Amino acid sequence: MDNETIAFDAMANAYAPYSRFRVGAVITGPDGRPFAGCNVENASYPAGLCAERAALAAGIAAGCRTFRELVIATEAEVATPPCGMCRQALGEFGHELHITSVTTGGQRVTWRLSELLPMPFTPASLEHV
Ligand code: THU
Repeated sequence: MDNETIAFDAMANAYAPYSRFRVGAVITGPDGRPFAGCNVENASYPAGLCAERAALAAGIAAGCRTFRELVIATEAEVATPPCGMCRQALGEFGHELHITSVTTGGQRVTWRLSELLPMPFTPASLEHV
């Protein structure tokens, strides 16, 4: 199964009863292995989790520390980039990640994480104390 199909399958399993904005994500490890995630909302709204960080956590739990590609799947009119918190979380593991956002309507947009987060706070930033 290709990564976009896996991302759409994860989107279909999203738990988003409050926003109704379902998101699926797939992040691939250095060997191309896919790790899927979806958004998981909560009655206590700030406790909700984005699809991108759910996928990232699955990849980390499998032992990956570098990633090749992130695919985001939504039903939105326009292909959506990852939120700011997810950009920061992804950036911990490299800024050259290729990010593609796809929609059920057939839109597709690709970015580099470095474009979306041009001035990151990195582990190296912590050394400047
Ligand atoms: N969401 C994601 O999962 N990824 C994003 O990049 C943006 C937003 C989720 C969070 C929330 O469950 C819903 O979409 C609406 O913001």
